[in-house]
Amino acid sequence: MSRKSKSIEDTRNMFKKMTTKATDSKSKHQFLVSGHKFNVDTFYSPHKAVGSGAYGVVCATIDNRYNRKVAIKKCSNAFEDIIDGKRILREVRLLQAFDHENICPLLDMIPPTDPHKFTDVYIVLNYMESDLHKIIYSRNKLTDEHYQYFVYQILRGLKYLHSKKVIHRDLKPSNLLVNSNCDLKICDFGLARGLDWKTELTEYVVTRWYRAPEIMCSHQDYNEKIDMWSVGTILAEMIRGKPLFAGDHYIHQLNLIFELIGTPNLKDDLECVSNVKALKYIQKLSPKTTKSFEKYFGGCHGATPDAIDLLKKLLRFNPNKRISVDEALEHPYFRALHSEKNKQSADAVCEKEVSYDWEFKCKTKKGLKQQMYKACVEVRAESQAKWIEHQKNASKQDKNIKNEH
Ligand SMILES: Nc1ncnc2c1ncn2[C@@H]1O[C@H](COP(=O)(O)OP(=O)(O)OP(=O)(O)O)[C@@H](O)[C@H]1O
Ligand SMILES: [Mg+2]
Repeated sequence: MSRKSKSIEDTRNMFKKMTTKATDSKSKHQFLVSGHKFNVDTFYSPHKAVGSGAYGVVCATIDNRYNRKVAIKKCSNAFEDIIDGKRILREVRLLQAFDHENICPLLDMIPPTDPHKFTDVYIVLNYMESDLHKIIYSRNKLTDEHYQYFVYQILRGLKYLHSKKVIHRDLKPSNLLVNSNCDLKICDFGLARGLDWKTELTEYVVTRWYRAPEIMCSHQDYNEKIDMWSVGTILAEMIRGKPLFAGDHYIHQLNLIFELIGTPNLKDDLECVSNVKALKYIQKLSPKTTKSFEKYFGGCHGATPDAIDLLKKLLRFNPNKRISVDEALEHPYFRALHSEKNKQSADAVCEKEVSYDWEFKCKTKKGLKQQMYKACVEVRAESQAKWIEHQKNASKQDKNIKNEH
């Protein structure tokens, strides 16, 4: 037996052992990541902590079966708060349906040993080396080509989401994962939702600095254009090297926006101010005109005329007049990138149905836990099927090599 086929045999035996005990505590081991205990399958071994956010700690991990790096996001005490728990499940259910090169893929989940007693949820994702926040505030100097390529990839990911009527609702640099070859993938779908979902839209979405004005000015009456506003603030942040509108609170946020783009013309844009409090506030403001984007982003910041034109179209107060994702992809700023070949792959639409019926089964913590367990088992089954497929292909290749000799 050749060395290669022996190693496949070994892996196969190892896999058999693992699958028979997929949810058995003996097939798991524990390690600490930034003080957080990770209890995961033994084929995952720790590499380094890479990030943390409101809902989880993320650890770069080696998946020893494939010998590849993955990222495991641990969401602790996932059922303490139903709203937070639903966010985790929403992220899982959405990622299960997505398959796009600019969206971070879900690779696996770790089913708990006891379906009734678990408190933590582990989501295994494709590993990415950094995120756009870290890149913007690192010493690396970004050029106009970087801005183009990053924004182009965000738009491709968004086109895919918006084609399925899903809004991300929390686009910001730290939710955009980036590799050293500048490949970008959108992550963190905890706040995402479908426009067709029969649940209410809420005001408390999008980290304040990246929040579109209509979220604050109209009552639960917004659409996918809120993501386009966020794209504008992200492009501006890359150009200026600091957040565009770093508001301390709701009113401060609006004031900063109006300082740059001017106060809204209530004759033309009244339709976007359905919140009476916001309307009264805007009516009291002394009118301000739009600042020169050429001066604000050009000059020492060096934004090109095309970048400035795109910014003007992304940062429009009225969402109906704001550029859509399809229009933005056709903008001259992406002339060098939007080739026929890239256009075709940018046109990829999400074909899998995004399931949301689980939302209605999560009214209690028990219901939520049952739904989460169901998701864990389903995702694990998909992941195992892929591993078996991978094994078969490896064994076929191995036979071919043997026959050649
Ligand atoms: N797949 C990944 N590969 C590498 N790093 C990642 C990955 N996923 C997340 N991270 C890192 O972990 C951070 C937090 O992840 P994520 O945004 O998914 O968590 P969160 O708790 O929902 O965050 P938030 O504070 O935005 O609500 C990211 O900003 C990123 O730096
Ligand atoms: Mg995040």
